[in-house]
Amino acid sequence: MRKKIIIGNWKMNYSVNVAENFLNDIKDSINTNEVDVVICPNFTCLDRISNLIDNTNISLGAQNVYFENSGAFTGEISADMLNGLDVNYCIVGHSERRNIFNETDDIVNKKVIKLLKSNITPILCVGENLNDRNNSDHFSVVYNQLKNSLKDITDISNVVIAYEPIWAIGTGVSASEIDANDMCKYIRESISKMYDTNIANNIRIVYGGSVKASNAKLLLNMDNIDGALVGGACITNEFVAIVNY
Ligand code: PGA
Repeated sequence: MRKKIIIGNWKMNYSVNVAENFLNDIKDSINTNEVDVVICPNFTCLDRISNLIDNTNISLGAQNVYFENSGAFTGEISADMLNGLDVNYCIVGHSERRNIFNETDDIVNKKVIKLLKSNITPILCVGENLNDRNNSDHFSVVYNQLKNSLKDITDISNVVIAYEPIWAIGTGVSASEIDANDMCKYIRESISKMYDTNIANNIRIVYGGSVKASNAKLLLNMDNIDGALVGGACITNEFVAIVNY
């Protein structure tokens, strides 16, 4: 039985004092009995948020990582540095990173490999744009992202996959629960072919893109959707309602 996982991607929001106040306000209302909860604040908040959730079951995630160990990579953060702050998860391949910062599948692949070596669970994002969907290319686009991002990785038991159609991110228009479930099912079948049925049955595949309190239950009750990656709604009180769906 796959345990649901709700991940909050705070994106580039909140300076550290605001972040602490926000989390202090909601953290006691977050029920972690039934679901795993991961909060991914920006890098500057990781340390203080790490302390704040120390004695809770809420896990800490980062929004990005660089694949090298250390050295002359101005502005980058290594997996080792994330380990130093008790970061257990890290988002990779988010469409904002792919589109604004030109991250390729090859870079995403290196990051996933590095995270796995560092015992940090990658939250690997894949998803098509509106053109792909209108041209019925969405399955092949997602398949290629998946295949390329997981290249040369033999053990993916510690990976979470997030299906995030770009047209649903930050738009207020979520994929329907049927379409989201269909793609998550397709991803599971693809994993089954790339690896095996056992791995496919156990891997968590979540949906992201305009998840909010009003649609969380519908999406999260679908067979193949094992959780949610939440952006906009996770920096509001709605996050509590989504987790406690
Ligand atoms: P959204 O973002 O919930 O604001 O659509 C999701 C994401 O980017 O992960």
